[in-house]
Amino acid sequence: MDFWRGKVVLLTGASRGIGRALAAKLAGQGAKLILVARSEPELLELGTELSAQGAEVFFRPADVSDRHAVKGLVEAGGERFGRLDVLINNAGVGLRARIPDIRPEDFSTAWEVNVLGPLLLIQAAWPWFERQSGGLIINICSLGALQPAPNIGGYSATKAALAALGAATRLELAPFGVRVCNVFPGSAATSFRAHALGEAYPENEPRLSRVSPDLVAQRILIGAARGERDIFVTWPDRVLATFARLAPVLTDRLVARAFKRVKER
Ligand SMILES: NC(=O)c1ccc[n+]([C@@H]2O[C@H](COP(=O)([O-])OP(=O)(O)OC[C@H]3O[C@@H](n4cnc5c(N)ncnc54)[C@H](OP(=O)(O)O)[C@@H]3O)[C@@H](O)[C@H]2O)c1
Repeated sequence: MDFWRGKVVLLTGASRGIGRALAAKLAGQGAKLILVARSEPELLELGTELSAQGAEVFFRPADVSDRHAVKGLVEAGGERFGRLDVLINNAGVGLRARIPDIRPEDFSTAWEVNVLGPLLLIQAAWPWFERQSGGLIINICSLGALQPAPNIGGYSATKAALAALGAATRLELAPFGVRVCNVFPGSAATSFRAHALGEAYPENEPRLSRVSPDLVAQRILIGAARGERDIFVTWPDRVLATFARLAPVLTDRLVARAFKRVKER
């Protein structure tokens, strides 16, 4: 896919899961990478591996909700390569709890990582995109932003906010030739659930699909290169999102039934 060749891509949450799969595919397609996550050893290992394969990689351990760190890393990454073409807001954290049981401190943390972090990154990247009269922002939201389910209301709220932030950014940056893609993955086989805040996920919690992070990354890179605004990973995800929009009462019933069946097992 020639679209990514030579592009300077800043990717958050690169240390594992979907972010790591994105980093590997982007490197394979000739992108220049600015990789961000909090874990320095994982970033160093990934950076060394990709560099050995011939990729140009700059990495910076940082918390995306730290405004000073974010400003510094976008400037340092942009200066390292002389430009910034793509921002991928992938870093994120789950939160599993029923609405009455959500601990305010967990909700604040999820909000800071899933919404404030992407906002800070978009703000720091903005002057680069304006100066260059072009760019691409990819926000990894969640299918839960479009159709919430029991136990993930707090998480869904943060991802719905990220989707709205992306939609408004699209309007404001369109005059500068900048595109924005919102991605709505269903469920991917990563350690996302193990790292989630709140209560542990039971093994039998329903999910529409469970795809590999490689497949998610592939769909994101293909969809973004094609100019898709909203990217879905699987067709059941797309069908659920369409049903949620066109037949919300029916979709709520189907989701509620799926969760009720689990309790009865
Ligand atoms: N897996 C799914 O089923 C699923 C479904 C829908 C949407 N998503 C979304 O997809 C994205 C990637 O999820 P994943 O499945 O790959 O999860 P994951 O395996 O838990 O990876 C999350 C990544 O985010 C980074 N991260 C977390 N908090 C951070 C912070 N404060 N600052 C900087 N980096 C931070 C983590 O690195 P460090 O810990 O090293 O910082 C890690 O690299 C997330 O936005 C998630 O909400 C996932």
